[in-house]
Amino acid sequence: MLLTKAQRWTVLQKACEFAQPPVVLEVGVLRDLDAAESDGHSTLLFWDWLIAHPECSYVGIDHAPDAVILTEGLKHMRYGPQKDRIHVICGDGRETIEKLVHSGGLNFLGVVYLDMNNDPEKTLEAFLVLEPALEPRAAIVVDDARELGIPGVGPRGKADKLWRVLQARGWVVEFPGDCMMLATRG
Ligand SMILES: C[S@@+](CC[C@H](N)C(=O)[O-])C[C@H]1O[C@@H](n2cnc3c(N)ncnc32)[C@H](O)[C@@H]1O
Repeated sequence: MLLTKAQRWTVLQKACEFAQPPVVLEVGVLRDLDAAESDGHSTLLFWDWLIAHPECSYVGIDHAPDAVILTEGLKHMRYGPQKDRIHVICGDGRETIEKLVHSGGLNFLGVVYLDMNNDPEKTLEAFLVLEPALEPRAAIVVDDARELGIPGVGPRGKADKLWRVLQARGWVVEFPGDCMMLATRG
């Protein structure tokens, strides 16, 4: 079953409430403000979380310049005083995370939302490079996580490989609505 935007926000909120994240990382940021349900606008949920949690900051990565321009523009328009805690970077998810982790620029990760296009290998690779930056108590969320056989959703679920690795490492893995993955540790 595909979840509505409100249902997806509930899962992301659960991840934030579980991990109380110093830093939220999102790979695949807001790209279409007009999208009704297909894009969850998770970026905006995370930014609302920042308003209520002044100790928290957000890093978003997207390889599409248009998505980054849209997201950066909204950050300035809607989140004036909070904008210094919001960092949006244009680049490939895995490569950018790798650079940030190696330079010491990505620490204290509490919540990670991997929402790049449907590619289980890339989703797993992104997790493996960010893993050293994770807090002991952390949550990982993936949308369109499992193969649903729905035309347009993609041939494979994004978390097809990742969830098995997480489970083998002791994470608690759930599939809310059967299409999102929420994995928690700690
Ligand atoms: C489903 S959209 C993200 C939607 C957003 N999280 C939301 O809820 O509104 C997927 C995004 O992932 C980006 N993307 C795909 N592959 C990527 C990669 N390898 N590195 C960085 N971004 C990627 C796309 O450009 C696109 O903007």
